[in-house]
Amino acid sequence: MSERPRILYAREQGLDVTEFRRVLVESGLGATRPVDDERRLKAMLSGAALIVTARMEATGRPLVGVARCLTDFSWCCYLTELAVSASAQGLGIGKGLLEEARRQIGPEVSLILASVPEAVGFYERIGMARMPDAFWYRRER
Ligand SMILES: CC(C)(COP(=O)(O)OP(=O)(O)OC[C@H]1O[C@@H](n2cnc3c(N)ncnc32)[C@H](O)[C@@H]1OP(=O)(O)O)[C@@H](O)C(=O)NCCC(=O)NCCS
Repeated sequence: MSERPRILYAREQGLDVTEFRRVLVESGLGATRPVDDERRLKAMLSGAALIVTARMEATGRPLVGVARCLTDFSWCCYLTELAVSASAQGLGIGKGLLEEARRQIGPEVSLILASVPEAVGFYERIGMARMPDAFWYRRER
């Protein structure tokens, strides 16, 4: 059996917009994010109180996953994106990013998210509970 590559998880508030964009595209999540609007992507990064990254322990420490969160570190945390590059999916990185995000926000803070249909099975698999009473206004563009 081949050994899994070592993954380094960290809080990286200064994440570069090009790397962020690349992982969104490589994961497939780019289809539902403004990847061709750099101004908007930069604002998404600068407005996020918590950005957790997953990097491969290899030359150049390539970014393979990201979790972007809006939080007050006191009561709630909204996970806005969880993305793992397709070539690194299935290695436990998505789960690892969520574990690191939860470690960073601590036990007083709830973590909520809206899943894309394809990822519902993942959130169920890692034991997250559904919120039947969630409401939202859709963004218009
Ligand atoms: C969804 C995503 C973040 C999962 O990350 P990942 O690193 O591939 O998942 P992990 O390896 O941590 O998987 C953890 C467990 O969930 C399972 N799992 C992973 N993706 C799954 C899916 N789409 N459906 C059902 N189970 C899934 C794995 O098999 C694994 O199970 P195990 O504990 O029995 O081994 C990743 O596939 C991704 O970036 N997808 C495209 C973008 C996306 O949909 N993001 C979510 C936005 S809401």
